[in-house]
Amino acid sequence: MEIDAIATAHAKRLSVADALLPTPPNWDAAAGTELSVRDGVALATRSRVDAGSPEALWRPLTEYRLNVRLGGADPGAAFGALLTEWDQLLEESEASDWDSAAVVTRPSRDTVGTSELLRRGFAPTRVLAVRPADRLAGGPPEVPGVRIRHAEPSELNTLVRLQLELRNYDEQFGVLTRRTDEERALTSATRELLADADSALPSLWIAELYGKPLGFVQVEVPPAAGWADSYVAAGSAGYLASMHVAEEARSSGVGSALAAHAHQLFDEAGMQAVLLHHTLANPRSTPFWYAQGYRPLWTSWYRRPAVQG
Ligand SMILES: CC(C)(COP(=O)(O)OP(=O)(O)OC[C@H]1O[C@@H](n2cnc3c(N)ncnc32)[C@H](O)[C@@H]1OP(=O)(O)O)[C@@H](O)C(=O)NCCC(=O)NCCS
Repeated sequence: MEIDAIATAHAKRLSVADALLPTPPNWDAAAGTELSVRDGVALATRSRVDAGSPEALWRPLTEYRLNVRLGGADPGAAFGALLTEWDQLLEESEASDWDSAAVVTRPSRDTVGTSELLRRGFAPTRVLAVRPADRLAGGPPEVPGVRIRHAEPSELNTLVRLQLELRNYDEQFGVLTRRTDEERALTSATRELLADADSALPSLWIAELYGKPLGFVQVEVPPAAGWADSYVAAGSAGYLASMHVAEEARSSGVGSALAAHAHQLFDEAGMQAVLLHHTLANPRSTPFWYAQGYRPLWTSWYRRPAVQG
């Protein structure tokens, strides 16, 4: 099959699978190594960040990624053949330390070839979930003792503590890696966000339970959330960047109140959809977000380390 015909078949399958997916953009062949099999093409890329960089807070230091276009009568078989070629390439890289990952991000509802990933040791690990604006609309729940308000610059330490708790919890689920200087990095990033507290839409919000700050949510709208346009066909999309409720306050409605507040902010800002990342194995966040009206849009399959000995 010709490359153009594969790309057309791929785009058609995706548009049938999920109306919220944008048209797949062309890739920059110079950014990686192109792989080609009967009825499938892929771009294999490698990226590396320094342990002290802000990006290292949220990802393995070395990531090998595969972007695929699948066509033909059996796109799952084409996917399997591409994964085999990619594995040969990865063998040469000797990426067998924990701080490396092989990652394939696929539209969640384009399930062809899923067993090919499982067979090669990949696990569905991280999801970019979407909530259309009109889904489960309704005001914030009345939760006794809960108040949601802008975070103040004086609350820097509280916000850093809550984020460290979140990292400690989320680390278990395969994407996030603790870094030696993460407290310093989080402090400086949070200080910057707090300096923006007077803007039209402050990004950090605190949940108090009977006057005690026990949770936070971080929201982003365009232009900060402009990257979301290449993941969702929704006009304008916001991003719920982070949320955490202290262990002592969980299961009492604080999280639901924070989420409802964030959705109200996104509605007021005219967002037609909201995206968020969560790790699938997180037994608290996964059911929580799906009860709040989200559903999977993109699923990232990880194999850590990238090459298994
Ligand atoms: C996910 C998280 C934010 C949810 O916050 P939360 O405050 O526990 O959420 P809620 O209390 O609103 O809802 C959780 C449960 O309590 C129940 N609940 C809500 N209000 C309640 C009330 N008044 N009385 C009893 N139960 C209640 C909800 O029905 C829900 O039940 P379920 O788990 O059986 O579906 C929180 O668990 C958390 O911070 N987890 C760790 C960090 C994390 O995973 N963050 C998200 C990263 S993407």
